[in-house]
Amino acid sequence: MQRTLILLKPDCVQRRLMGRIITRFEDKGLSFVAMKLMQVTPDLAKEHYAEHVKKGWYPTLESFITGGPIVAAVLEGLEAITVVREMLGATNGLSAAPGTIRGDYSSSRQMNLVHGSDGPEAAKREIALYFKPEELIDHDPTIAAWLRAVDE
Ligand code: CDP
Ligand code: MG
Repeated sequence: MQRTLILLKPDCVQRRLMGRIITRFEDKGLSFVAMKLMQVTPDLAKEHYAEHVKKGWYPTLESFITGGPIVAAVLEGLEAITVVREMLGATNGLSAAPGTIRGDYSSSRQMNLVHGSDGPEAAKREIALYFKPEELIDHDPTIAAWLRAVDE
């Protein structure tokens, strides 16, 4: 089992797409183990996007990600990190494949609705940025027996 951080970015919240996006993750068989509505501060944005802070487009990314409430959540599932990234599609909504979240709902390089951790190290770091350990709720979904075989 793997855990990954997702953010429903301000465009997702403002466009009233939260429900549809959450449904896609639930339909796939992923479990929510943490979730909260919150406001990203400039300091948190700089920590989260540390790899991008020096880039020319970073200031507009910071304005965007701090420009309205977001929903932060932790998803759990087999290969959850890769599965979520595949569900998101390419960064730029204009080139993201139809059928992916960004491909279906975004027509922007920046306003691409959902963040997903890009690897195990990033997932660990990002989950700790947004959640205290006690906010991660361990549980065994009763539907698990119908989502995969016992040896998967
Ligand atoms: O989110 P992802 O890992 O797919 O993309 P990234 O290259 O790590 O960039 C992080 C986020 O910065 C993107 O999801 C976009 O919202 C934003 N971005 C931007 O505003 N302008 C760019 N030229 C590239 C990314
Ligand atoms: Mg990235």
